[in-house]
Amino acid sequence: MKKQKIINIGLAGYGTVGRGVMSLLLSRNDDLSVRAGAKLRVKRICDTTFKNKSSIKALSPAIKGLLKKNKNYRALLPEAKVYTPNIEDIFSDPEIDIFVELIGGYQPAKRLILLALERGMDVVTANKNVLAKDFNELLAAAAKNKRRIYFEASVGAGIPIIAAINEGFCANKIYGLAGILNGTTNYILSNMSEGKADFDESLKKAQGLGFAEADPTLDITGQDSASKLAILSSLIFKSHIKPEDIYVEGIEKVLPFDIALGKEFGYTMKLFTLMEKVKPIPGSADMSEGAAFQVVPAFIKSSHPLASVSGAFNAIYIKSDAAGEQMLYGPGAGSLPAASAVVSDIVYSARHIMEKSVRHMPFFELRNKAPRIVDARNVESCFYIRFTAEDRPGVLARIADILSNYGISVASVVQKDGFSPKAVPIVMLTHEASTGNIINALSEIDSLNMVKKKTVFYRLLDI
Ligand code: HSE
Repeated sequence: MKKQKIINIGLAGYGTVGRGVMSLLLSRNDDLSVRAGAKLRVKRICDTTFKNKSSIKALSPAIKGLLKKNKNYRALLPEAKVYTPNIEDIFSDPEIDIFVELIGGYQPAKRLILLALERGMDVVTANKNVLAKDFNELLAAAAKNKRRIYFEASVGAGIPIIAAINEGFCANKIYGLAGILNGTTNYILSNMSEGKADFDESLKKAQGLGFAEADPTLDITGQDSASKLAILSSLIFKSHIKPEDIYVEGIEKVLPFDIALGKEFGYTMKLFTLMEKVKPIPGSADMSEGAAFQVVPAFIKSSHPLASVSGAFNAIYIKSDAAGEQMLYGPGAGSLPAASAVVSDIVYSARHIMEKSVRHMPFFELRNKAPRIVDARNVESCFYIRFTAEDRPGVLARIADILSNYGISVASVVQKDGFSPKAVPIVMLTHEASTGNIINALSEIDSLNMVKKKTVFYRLLDI
């Protein structure tokens, strides 16, 4: 019988996702190997915690938990020599074909990805930080070394959004994207919206469930979502959209009060990642189509499919010209969902290695000119505005007067019971206006004596 070819894998970073990857690779090895066209073997697993021998012993019960459906789990466990604390054990092994980077963070992950490509390995990574910042450099290094880099797990964990944009939608022009790409913030906002807990309690719960970043500031401030938007947008535009091209706001300042008021108007609050194409202003020097990128807390009609994405779930709503509007939805974090994406990349990579295919998938070339980046504050939108003002004649008229000076037209107004007669909440929903005009109008309004607190505003998305 012909000997089955082996594809050897070196895996670095053995945390939640790494264990999920091992459990899938071990428990479904036969089926995955048939798909890959070669036996998939994890030859080395590297994690600095393995310096301590007892941490290796502790791994068996951890994997046992994940493999519990498989009676033969003991036979499936890798031998002790597979585990190493030294990354050189992967890089000095000429048999290793695929380097799986699950270390996360920026350095040393980036250096190791580049080293793996130089040493002739394909790379599978879940690293949104490195990709978002250095997409161009990584793809150039892959092309130079005639290797590939796969990153399905970097956005939306198990939701196959990278494959969808590169393959499923390749016949389309994608003209808009609205995503809920961070499970931690979505969990927090959902909890706050249901009145179950305040911000701090909800964050603690999210951390306990294991989907927050090591440093949850990246989640809360919107930076995690921005990295994911940078990756998806780079694929859509075939040009590196950098995190600095994205206007980012987090959810730190969101109050349950505004979530509840928005609900009364039929809206749900989410942290949105948005890519919006913007038509050129007639007569401007650059008449090319522009695009605005932002991460912002915003309201959406509660009847929209995106409004029902709650808890730690993620969704990506894509507007395309041929396939129409579609939403991909699923768990955006967690051991097995992320592992599902990593393992599918391993299988892709193994197949390409087996086929000796040097072809580059279209997305490996960021060949297009960068789009004209439009300041997200120039995008027109309807708004929710909450003033906190004195309850006396003339207040509303004065506010409406300033808004009208900036061309902002009011669609509806509601005054709620106040904290005191000196400070009542007044909520206005506006017709379309630019964020820039809203900011200028509100800064003028907030300087009035009759206005008692800084005014709060959110976009009302019309997707
Ligand atoms: N911290 C991320 C989230 C994990 O909360 O969605 C997946 O990238």
